Amino acid sequence: MTEPYQSDWARLLLGDSFHPGGTALTEYLGTLLSLGSDQRVLDVAAGQGASAIHLAQRFGCSVLGIEYSSVAVENASQAVLATGVAHLVTFEQGDAENLPVPAASFDVVLCECAFCTFPQKAMAASEFVRVLRPGGRVGLSDLTRKGDIPADLQGLLAWIACIADAQPLEDYVHYLTEAGLTVQLETVCKGFKMGLSLGDAEASGSETRKSNFRCFLARTRSPCRADGRR
Ligand SMILES: C[S@@+](CC[C@H](N)C(=O)[O-])C[C@H]1O[C@@H](n2cnc3c(N)ncnc32)[C@H](O)[C@@H]1O
Repeated sequence: MTEPYQSDWARLLLGDSFHPGGTALTEYLGTLLSLGSDQRVLDVAAGQGASAIHLAQRFGCSVLGIEYSSVAVENASQAVLATGVAHLVTFEQGDAENLPVPAASFDVVLCECAFCTFPQKAMAASEFVRVLRPGGRVGLSDLTRKGDIPADLQGLLAWIACIADAQPLEDYVHYLTEAGLTVQLETVCKGFKMGLSLGDAEASGSETRKSNFRCFLARTRSPCRADGRR
């Protein structure tokens, strides 16, 4: 489901950076990932390209953004022309669950506020591992939920806002671990402006627990097989 991200509603909800925390949070994740000019980064579900462009500007890394929506790819490809990093950043249309890149060809996979929207999350996680070189890292940020998501937060706008299929924290860890990654760090992204929060009333109805937006840092556990799969 990618067309809704082209709508005015998406921009209203998410701003130019299509995730809570904006480019400040992207930069935080880039620092956690120790990005540098010698790093090749794959931004999975790159959206309008804001994160890929920011990372190249801030860390000097090269970035390929893969994005399902061809309209977004076109927008991102246009946007990068007006920056000083057009030689470092490219965008291609593709599916996170079947990434159009060779095995073991990236140092870092970044996936911001998109993993929760993938229908086949295990397949996407195993694609992250396939495309990473041995010792490569994954930086993932997503909304986590506690308890069930209320029915009125399961519609299209909630999907756009990465709420509708947000997973419990332990499920993200499970997907990454099962794919062959060691989750090294998870942190609540405190101090970042959160555009969204999800309250799920507890049984008593008196207390509301909020969801968190979390960053996950994960690392490949063992060298890839020749075909890159595990
Ligand atoms: C909330 S936006 C996040 C975009 C970007 N990562 C950011 O933080 O600005 C989610 C994006 O995921 C893309 N997307 C959804 N499913 C995808 C898939 N299977 N493969 C590639 N991109 C996908 C959507 O088109 C949309 O641009």
